[in-house]
Amino acid sequence: MMYKNEKEVGAGIRAKIAEGVVKREDIFLTSKLWCTYHKPEQVVPACKKSLSDLGLDYLDLYLIHAPLAYKEGDELWPKDANGKIILSDVDYVETWKAMEQCVKLGLAKSIGISNFNSQQIKRILEVATITPAVNQVECHPYLNQSKLIAFCKERNIVITAYSPLGSPNSIAKEDAPAPLKDPKLQEIAKRYKKSVAQVILRYLIQHDTVPIPKSSNKKRLQENFDIFDFELGSADVAAIDGLERNFRVCPYSE
Ligand code: A2P
Repeated sequence: MMYKNEKEVGAGIRAKIAEGVVKREDIFLTSKLWCTYHKPEQVVPACKKSLSDLGLDYLDLYLIHAPLAYKEGDELWPKDANGKIILSDVDYVETWKAMEQCVKLGLAKSIGISNFNSQQIKRILEVATITPAVNQVECHPYLNQSKLIAFCKERNIVITAYSPLGSPNSIAKEDAPAPLKDPKLQEIAKRYKKSVAQVILRYLIQHDTVPIPKSSNKKRLQENFDIFDFELGSADVAAIDGLERNFRVCPYSE
């Protein structure tokens, strides 16, 4: 909802269903509850609004976008006079209970969370009657999330890796560390006759995460799918593990 593209995404999917190219069940569709809709009574209506904008009748996965509640209202980023985000005091544990209603009503097949740390997940699990299926977090070789992956794996929570390539085209961060330009990754990629992007995605899959690289370029989309015909050896996985530097593309600071 916050990316403001549900209408376009829904129109694209519906057009391809109408043309007989895909069936709805061939697609795994995820949306997220934005931070200004954390009050329990807002959750089901927000989910229904997303479905109405998509023009579809169920989501495969609905996520709490972040463990942060913002002041309710029309402003997606409500700010005070000093430009600081205005928070709301809704506890995400209460939000989670309402997320479960989305499954019970058939609006979402699965529900999950995004940008949650292990302490926050523990609090959710204390009340959950449905375990979050997924925790979607930033994850790439410079922020490999090894502890969070292990924590979630023990609890049957799948990690979805966003910004898996380190979001290289993020204009605001031109001089930011760039995994795609990393010399060690370039050396590994050369040896496997794959691109650096493919090595990174393969690395993330071998750590049992689900990377979601964004591309609007057909050739790169195809390249990003072409990672199931090779496997990184354990020494190379360990070498990539060693690139960790706690770098965040998306720091979620206020
Ligand atoms: P483009 O859309 O022009 O392909 P992330 O998923 O980490 O946020 O990174 C997304 C960015 O990485 C996009 O700007 C995308 O640009 C670029 N990108 C996606 N796939 C590749 C690839 N295989 N090689 C290089 N850049 C890529």
